[in-house]
Amino acid sequence: MLALPKAFFAGLFASSIVQGSSVEQNRTMYNPAIPGWHSDPSCVFVAERDNTTFCTSSTFLLTPGLPIHASKDLTNWKLISHALSRESQYPEFDQSLAQSDGIWAATIRYHLGTFYIITIYNNQILSKQTGLIFRTTDPYNDSAWADPIRYDAEFIDPDLFWDDDGTAYVATAGTNLQTIDFETGRLSKPRTIWNGTTGIFLEGPHIYRKDGYYYLLVAEGGSGLNHSVTIARSTDIWGPYEGYERNPILTNRGTAELFQNIGHADLFHDKNGQWWAAALAWRSGPEGQTYPMGRETVVTPVTWEENGWPVFAPVRGVESGWSLPASRDIPGDGKFIDEPDVVDFRPHSTIPQNFGYWRWPDRAAYTVSPLGHPNTLQLTPSFANITAGWANYSAGYQIANLTMITRLQTATLFQYSVDVSFAPTARDEEAGVTVFLNQVQNINLGIVMLPASNSTTNSTSLAPHFRFLASGLGSDEKHVPAPSVTPVPPSWLGRPIRLSIHAENATHYTFYASATGCQSGEPRALGRAPATIVSGGMGPFTGALLGVYATSNGGAGSTPAYVSRWRYQNVAQEVVRGEFITE
Ligand SMILES: *[C@@H]1O[C@H](CO)[C@@H](O)[C@H](O)[C@H]1NC(C)=O
Ligand SMILES: *[C@@H]1O[C@H](CO)[C@@H](O)[C@H](O)[C@H]1NC(C)=O
Ligand SMILES: *[C@@H]1O[C@H](CO)[C@@H](O)[C@H](O)[C@H]1NC(C)=O
Ligand SMILES: *[C@@H]1O[C@H](CO)[C@@H](O)[C@H](O)[C@H]1NC(C)=O
Ligand SMILES: *[C@@H]1O[C@H](CO)[C@@H](O)[C@H](O)[C@H]1NC(C)=O
Ligand SMILES: *[C@@H]1O[C@H](CO)[C@@H](O)[C@H](O)[C@H]1NC(C)=O
Ligand SMILES: *[C@@H]1O[C@H](CO)[C@@H](O)[C@H](O)[C@H]1NC(C)=O
Ligand SMILES: *[C@@H]1O[C@H](CO)[C@@H](O)[C@H](O)[C@H]1NC(C)=O
Ligand SMILES: *[C@@H]1O[C@H](CO)[C@@H](O)[C@H](O)[C@H]1NC(C)=O
Ligand SMILES: *[C@@H]1O[C@H](CO)[C@@H](O)[C@H](O)[C@H]1NC(C)=O
Ligand SMILES: *[C@@H]1O[C@H](CO)[C@@H](O)[C@H](O)[C@H]1NC(C)=O
Repeated sequence: MLALPKAFFAGLFASSIVQGSSVEQNRTMYNPAIPGWHSDPSCVFVAERDNTTFCTSSTFLLTPGLPIHASKDLTNWKLISHALSRESQYPEFDQSLAQSDGIWAATIRYHLGTFYIITIYNNQILSKQTGLIFRTTDPYNDSAWADPIRYDAEFIDPDLFWDDDGTAYVATAGTNLQTIDFETGRLSKPRTIWNGTTGIFLEGPHIYRKDGYYYLLVAEGGSGLNHSVTIARSTDIWGPYEGYERNPILTNRGTAELFQNIGHADLFHDKNGQWWAAALAWRSGPEGQTYPMGRETVVTPVTWEENGWPVFAPVRGVESGWSLPASRDIPGDGKFIDEPDVVDFRPHSTIPQNFGYWRWPDRAAYTVSPLGHPNTLQLTPSFANITAGWANYSAGYQIANLTMITRLQTATLFQYSVDVSFAPTARDEEAGVTVFLNQVQNINLGIVMLPASNSTTNSTSLAPHFRFLASGLGSDEKHVPAPSVTPVPPSWLGRPIRLSIHAENATHYTFYASATGCQSGEPRALGRAPATIVSGGMGPFTGALLGVYATSNGGAGSTPAYVSRWRYQNVAQEVVRGEFITE
């Protein structure tokens, strides 16, 4: 494995070109621009908000949802808010059974001082899509995002476009077009405006107006190895649209590139009038087997030909792009995407903005520094566990209120650990760490109360055990490791136990436990599992989360777990097959 620091590449594409009287320097850029699961990106550049670009992405059942990332240089991206941060904005997550339900692809736009996000909540069991439009004048403040306007959504992947006369249009998969009235939330009857080049999964449309044309950018081929970007244009927004003869204008299908599944693009320009596209990508190679971070956000430069069609630079891990002065000058308390987590749950602190839950959390199950347990996060166990299996991951209240708190895996190689203080008393009580894609694909190391192995003659004697348990029910992996159970060494009890997850290479996770305090010693590796378990399968649209959980596993227990010293660190990003860079 080759691992080189970013500095090694930094000058790779540096070049000077003279344009008129100004000299511009190209720079080296890296993809994914926003690493980790940030799917279906949509971005808007807003000159009047300090020349900043704002992007959002789809979050499915993860809450808070619809993160807003802001950047001035398209390299340093800061999480500044979530458009969907309050349960009251859309409570119905508990009606969703399918693990790929929830918030699907969104579009972010800016119009007359207001930011708009249009999206749908998809509920597959009810076969229902609810259109949602979020608005704010202050994208740096969660609370300033209003409760969404709801509308009847016939199709997925809504786009928002305002024409010069002020009419607002919604384009959707298909490709269909409607006008929208924001006062009433009413849309006109949809009309199909373009059938694409293949007719296969015409998705993620965006309309732009440039030099007298309406450009219609869409995804085709389905979000997978055949994904691609195509374009058409017309002088009338209702069509007829003329497809570009060189479609698809962006794809990596049929290549050996690490970056695959390129599609669902959105165009924007920067303060110098240079154009860019954001799109989604898997880092899976053409095999499409291992891509635990799922669909990540890439950014690539775009130029316009003289005949007026855009040319996208092919998506690579290391690219040349126009220079924008490096800037970390972005307001807000949120984190830049490459920052580590160093979280100690100090008294009066709040849960970090980049932490998330599967569906809305029961807030009472997560208490920072409760009385008698300073510098911890108290987790009240849920009745449901996170590996509830086919039988009952869909069962009424059991699906809601999973006690699990997570962050995204944001690098190919990383280290994550927490200290867990847990004194279970009832059988099956458990607290542990997880790599979680969904409730049928996850890998866990828990401390769990089980019959003591020395108690063959007395089945009521219980003892804490480490249990390594991978659930691969929904995955394509044929060799899911068998569960393994090991008693916790008695000398480790009575103080926190450190549980860690390391991605030591691009294909496998290793789970460790170690004693803390004066007992601390070499961490013990207690399990190893392939990342294919959390790649695709029943979770083709989402990506791996890392976190802690507490559950009674359906039993009578209610002993809380206390989590402290939460640490996460990116170690390296794979940017070219087999080649890694470090910060
Ligand atoms: C935004 O960029 C333009 C072009 O470089 C510049 O003229 C303008 O002053 C910038 N605005 C702010 C608020 O920095
Ligand atoms: C955030 O928005 C809320 C709701 O509009 C407002 O009450 C609050 O003052 C804002 N906070 C800041 C720091 O602007
Ligand atoms: C799209 O295809 C359908 C079915 O073949 C056809 O009826 C319709 O006219 C086409 N629409 C456009 C805008 O090409
Ligand atoms: C990609 O397209 C080819 C040709 O249409 C088809 O045979 C193949 O099944 C598709 N693959 C996926 C993953 O959709
Ligand atoms: C700078 O990057 C842009 C965008 O990729 C490209 O079009 C241009 O040719 C590059 N310039 C040089 C001198 O490499
Ligand atoms: C789940 O949490 C919600 C609050 O989000 C609460 O109203 C509900 O009673 C909880 N359900 C169970 C079964 O604990
Ligand atoms: C998790 O919950 C399900 C459903 O209640 C149960 O069948 C399963 O045994 C539980 N898993 C463990 C490890 O206890
Ligand atoms: C799932 O759990 C619910 C509530 O405990 C129960 O009513 C239902 O029968 C269970 N379904 C299956 C398939 O186990
Ligand atoms: C079995 O174990 C329990 C709990 O450790 C203890 O209270 C009980 O006396 C034991 N019974 C026998 C028969 O040893
Ligand atoms: C059985 O195991 C438990 C937990 O590891 C321990 O506390 C207990 O002393 C053991 N009992 C015997 C008889 O070894
Ligand atoms: C990663 O490590 C595992 C376990 O040691 C090994 O089986 C696998 O081949 C390694 N993968 C790569 C890409 O080196």
